[in-house]
Amino acid sequence: MRTTLSVIKADIGSIGGHIKPGERLMSCVRGYIEEKSAGLVRDFRTSSTGDDIAILMSHARGTGDPEIHKLAWDAFKAGTELAKDTGLYGAGQDLLKDSFSGNVKGLGPAVAEMEFDERPNEPFLFFAADKTDPGAYNLPLYLAFADPMCCSGLILSPKMAKGFRYDVMDVAYTKGDRVASLDAPERIYDLAALLRDNERFVVERIFARSSGEIAASVSTSRLHNIAGKYTGKDDPVMLVRVQGEFPATGEVLAPFAKGHFVAGFMRGSHVGPLMPVTQNEAISYFDGPPVVSCAAYCVHEGKLTEAADAFDHPFWDHVRDNVSRKAIEIREQGFSGPAMLGYSELEYGGIVEKLKEIDALFKVRT
Ligand code: F6R
Ligand code: MG
Ligand code: MG
Repeated sequence: MRTTLSVIKADIGSIGGHIKPGERLMSCVRGYIEEKSAGLVRDFRTSSTGDDIAILMSHARGTGDPEIHKLAWDAFKAGTELAKDTGLYGAGQDLLKDSFSGNVKGLGPAVAEMEFDERPNEPFLFFAADKTDPGAYNLPLYLAFADPMCCSGLILSPKMAKGFRYDVMDVAYTKGDRVASLDAPERIYDLAALLRDNERFVVERIFARSSGEIAASVSTSRLHNIAGKYTGKDDPVMLVRVQGEFPATGEVLAPFAKGHFVAGFMRGSHVGPLMPVTQNEAISYFDGPPVVSCAAYCVHEGKLTEAADAFDHPFWDHVRDNVSRKAIEIREQGFSGPAMLGYSELEYGGIVEKLKEIDALFKVRT
């Protein structure tokens, strides 16, 4: 059976700053989809990660379907009305355009989608991250799909022996989708050369080379490319199929134990360690740390099981303690050097204006 998974997420308002949408807003979005999705969507789940709301939908309409995208857009619009009426902060923050034009791409919300023939049992993972950008998934995806030090299936499972193909997007290019396909393992050095630059090159999709089947899909939107100014970070979502010809669930989760440093954190302008958290967790210290949640599901004939919250396990308490330590450590050096992002990645234009002013103070000594 042919199934499409679409996850569309947006920040449409939050309680007490940019930290959490709150139960009333969540039930408004959930209620809207419940009411309007009949005949369109086979099943859906809503969840939050930090200040973002994600709508995960299973349907039979293929990727980029205008009706599915419109459903999510309208649900976020309805939520934005409630956010405005109840005075939530940043109401409608990620809805950057006034009207819907067939696809939420380029309008503000992040979207990750994949279409496939359901296996007899079809386990997959849904990731959502807040206070960071799509490049945050680069390292975990490299390790999970190309590095046998992390993914033992690459050496132990004949089904995975052919490796994976990565589609990598140049997200600095704004005139269209500029994408390169690289086969792992043959081109892992080239892949690493690209993926080291999380702000420029982002894994968009991964395919199993044994079958050509889609394995992973990441949202690649860059809000500041759409709006031309600071509007928040591009808090990314990702779908990953697991088991069988794909890495096992635990092989995809394992790289997140590093709590690697990513772009984002306070004002989308800093560097902080990525903390694996449970679904519906809020944001706190220094508008961070950057967080990632993961819900594991099976989909069967389009119906989703209940979610297994993948980072809700005692193991990850230890990781969270470690990430907290790393977060405090890098915050020790405030604005200095690598604690803050380079100028092109700073999410506030104000500093650029300020620097122009300061520039007048410079005189060349003769
Ligand atoms: C980062 C983020 C927050 C805000 C910060 C200031 O993505 O959402 O760190 O940048 O709280 O918010 P404003 O500019 O709305 O006062
Ligand atoms: Mg926000
Ligand atoms: Mg957010």
